[in-house]
Amino acid sequence: MAPRRPILLNAFDMNTVGHISHGLWRHPRDRSIDYKRMPYWLDLARTLERGLFDGLFLADVSGVYDVWGGSPDAALRHAIQVPINDPAVLVSAMASVTRHLGFGITATISAESPHTFARRMSTLDHLSEGRIGWNIVTGFLDSSARALGQSAPLSHDARYDRADEFMDLVYQLWETSWDDDAVVADRASGIYTEPARVRRIRHEGPAYRLDAMHLCEPSPQRTPLLFQAGASPRGTAFAARHAEVVFVPNQGLKATAQVIRKLEAALTAVGRTRDSVRFVTTLQVVTGRTDTEARERFDEYRGYAQPEAGLVQFSSAIGVDLSRFGLDDPVSGGSADAIQSSVSSLAGQGGKPSPTVRQLLAQMPLGGRHTPVVGSPAQVADEIEAWVDEAGVDGFNLVRTVSPEGLEHFVDLVVPELQRRGLHKTAYANGVWREKIFGTGQARLPSTHAGAQWRDLSQQTP
Ligand SMILES: Cc1cc2nc3c(=O)[nH]c(=O)nc-3n(C[C@H](O)[C@H](O)[C@H](O)COP(=O)(O)O)c2cc1C
Repeated sequence: MAPRRPILLNAFDMNTVGHISHGLWRHPRDRSIDYKRMPYWLDLARTLERGLFDGLFLADVSGVYDVWGGSPDAALRHAIQVPINDPAVLVSAMASVTRHLGFGITATISAESPHTFARRMSTLDHLSEGRIGWNIVTGFLDSSARALGQSAPLSHDARYDRADEFMDLVYQLWETSWDDDAVVADRASGIYTEPARVRRIRHEGPAYRLDAMHLCEPSPQRTPLLFQAGASPRGTAFAARHAEVVFVPNQGLKATAQVIRKLEAALTAVGRTRDSVRFVTTLQVVTGRTDTEARERFDEYRGYAQPEAGLVQFSSAIGVDLSRFGLDDPVSGGSADAIQSSVSSLAGQGGKPSPTVRQLLAQMPLGGRHTPVVGSPAQVADEIEAWVDEAGVDGFNLVRTVSPEGLEHFVDLVVPELQRRGLHKTAYANGVWREKIFGTGQARLPSTHAGAQWRDLSQQTP
């Protein structure tokens, strides 16, 4: 049998108390209320590097969940992704205590200007020596649109159209504005940068106007490693054009396999190969030295979880105020402008009726809509193997449980088992993050990627 390709493993976290396992912050050993203090994050980064994780993936939202009861009160009360600090600011400190760990930072296009955003990412790519990734999100919260002073939020597909325009601008800033040899740093002549090798990017489009050069010299990866999670038809087209790592929502083995097949077809349609992309899904794991220990731990965690808080978050994901529903009311519908994959997950698949509120709550044993894998290291590894072999995923975003012990258990118990099976690396590859994932010599976007087309635009007026 051909040797397996090791899986891609990220920790899935957020610069906040309650990410997607609501209520677990109340557990006596949970330290997530220390998210405001740097030692919490530095310890986490060190733990991940000890377990040879590929990355720490930091989710983000730029608004509050206020669909439930038409108010942010429930979100505030239960720490449902609020208060939330900026993810990017954490990263340079964590990069300084690690050598290989990548950092996937979520940034919402509706909340950013292309020029300042490109500079922030280039700065981090320099300081981390090429270990920065960007999770491209378009922003689905009305509360975020209001916070940004937008009179009305854009519709779902219009958000992706604007995001395409944003991408073309940041690609030009990262890939075109500075030639590779623009910086000469010649002490004898006193010339740092050759002006003729730096060009202005000019753009007038429906959403953005820009007339500026990039302010940063070329960073190791130039364009950060690109993550994206589109699953709707428009989101899939966007992912096929831009994503290098695609997050596929975990909808069970079979449904996830189908989503991957659709994405593969979309990739082929734009001239990209299956091998130029990695598919990653979310996985929540509770493990122990034995199956019994894992089950006892799961029951203990469960005693602190708040599925009702998961429902508050889900209300915003589908754009429906579920506080008005009775426990046995079926939940269907959902806003066309919310997260369409969440909305479509309600439509009775395979002729099944839509879930009731009670059933949704039962789907959230640890406070979020995930079915945790609970078991000994061998049982967890079996499940991971099934996801790789049957669904065709390349890796996982491990959902936070009780922090940091959930990750420590995974690193100490599951990682060695995965390594024994050839499913996890035994050493980091050298190079920037893109090279660690796609191979040596792949530091830049490959030539088949949409962003690479801008590299040949040196005919533009400097
Ligand atoms: C693993 C994963 C992580 C995500 N992280 C975020 C996030 O941090 N912030 C956010 O606004 N949306 C996040 N999303 C939502 C996606 O950006 C996107 O809106 C969603 O997958 C629906 O895409 P669609 O509208 O094409 O269906 C995430 C989705 C997945 C599957």
